[in-house]
Formats: sequence, C-alpha cells, structure tokens
Amino acid sequence: MLSDEQKAGYHRDGYIVLPGFKSAEDIAAVRERALQIVDAFDPGQGSSIFTTQNQTTATDAYFLGSDNTIRCFFEEEAFDAQGRLKQDKSLSINKIGHALHDLDPVFERFSRDAKLAAVARDLGLAEALIWQSMYIFKQPGIGGEVRWHQDATFFETTPISVTTFWFALEDATIDNGCLWVEPGGHLGPLRERFVRNGDAISMEKLDSTPWPDDSVAVPLEAKAGSLVCFHGLLPHYSAPNRSPVSRHAYTLHATDGRTVYSPRNWIQRDPALPVRGFD
Ligand code: FE2
Repeated sequence: MLSDEQKAGYHRDGYIVLPGFKSAEDIAAVRERALQIVDAFDPGQGSSIFTTQNQTTATDAYFLGSDNTIRCFFEEEAFDAQGRLKQDKSLSINKIGHALHDLDPVFERFSRDAKLAAVARDLGLAEALIWQSMYIFKQPGIGGEVRWHQDATFFETTPISVTTFWFALEDATIDNGCLWVEPGGHLGPLRERFVRNGDAISMEKLDSTPWPDDSVAVPLEAKAGSLVCFHGLLPHYSAPNRSPVSRHAYTLHATDGRTVYSPRNWIQRDPALPVRGFD
C-alpha cells in the first residue's frame, strides 16, 4: 500500500498524510450515522463534558464507562451560565466515543477494510488491535482546543506501538482547528501516562522534556477524505475552532498485538467485546 518513500517519511517525521483515502459516499455514511446517534442521545441520562484540561470531569463514571460503549460528550463551552445549551444539541457535542468501530455497523464498515489493514501493516503494526474510535465534531465557534500531548499517554504498550488513524470528514484548515504536529518529535520521550486504577484516574509525569514551542508546529491542513496516520509519540495539538465551519474527524487508535497492553490503560475490553484489528 505505501511506497518505500512514504514509509521512510513516516519514520522520519512521525506522520503521513494520505489524501483521497475515503470516498465522498464513505464520509456521507458516517456523518449521517453520527447525527442519528446525537439525535437519539438524551442528555438527561447523565453526560460528561470532554476536556483535557479538567481531569476531574474526566474521572466520572460516564467517561470511564464509555470504553465498551458508544456515548456522546458535550463541548466545554456548550452551556451558558445557567447550564442551558447555547445552541442546538447537534452543534453542542464534542465527540462520540469509544467503541463505535465495534458496536455500530456503519462505523464498523468505515473502520475495517483491506486497504486500512495494509496501511497498518506498512506502518509496523503486524497484528493491529483497534482499542478506540472517536467521532470528533470540533463544532463551529465552540470547538475546544486540545493542547500538546502524545497519544501514547493513553495507550501504554511495551514497547510503545500505538498508532493514530485520523480521517478528515470535512476539510480541516488552520481556521477551523486542524491538527498541528512537531515533525520528528516522535523520536523524543513519552512525557506522561494516563493511568486508571478502578474508578480513579491520574496523570503520571514520566519525563520533564518540555512540550515543543508552538513556533515549531506544522499545520496539517487536510481535505475531506484524507487519512493522517501518526506515531503514538508524536506531539500534536489542535487549536480551538472559532470559525463558523465545523471540522468533523474520525479517529482510530491501534496497538500491535505483539506488544504488552498495560492493565493500567483506561480502556480495558469486556470479555464479551474482544479487541480486534482492521480485517
Ligand atoms: Fe491526540
């Protein structure tokens, strides 16, 4: 699937952009399904606002219980001072996670095919295992920022193997909050680890290497249909979306089954929902 030049680029930079990986029909199918899921979502069930800056919120049972289910999470800025939604529910959801790829037939079709399996193998995942899927809305006006981090923080394996598959479902631009990366930054250390102990979670500092200065970050503007793959150690962030245009994306996180998946990772699969690969 990937040329030697593309593989070399991935090893050098820590990421690769594959334009035109998904068709307009593929994208339309998951976008429609995501809206149906949000439409059926009753916020009264209890919900969680997703923010990487407030780990207290993230500790709630709603978040931790989403590893084997499909749940909706609100944008942090979705509510006014009285706790009412500032805009329609469909424009207030930050993301849907985290087992769409295993539990929803539309997302399952999008997440598994021979082409994706070949890319994963070419990137070094000999026995890929997909632990997580997220539909990210990056809503117009209120789409929250995600500060510098490494995805390996959330998926510890020995040795590190987690690889991110990021699909642009709309054109991602600097204005609407595209990804920014530090090219080559995957050659540095893992800085922190997100650890689950029962119902408690914590962030452990592993290395004092500072996050990159924003001035070295490179924007990954990507047309709808593009697949961006990046290494679990690659520092990346996305800015808030203050534009009037949403920036929908879908992500998968896969590790290599030849490595040891930490029992302290927050996502642990129930026996009834065994982790599977791209085939
Ligand atoms: Fe990330």
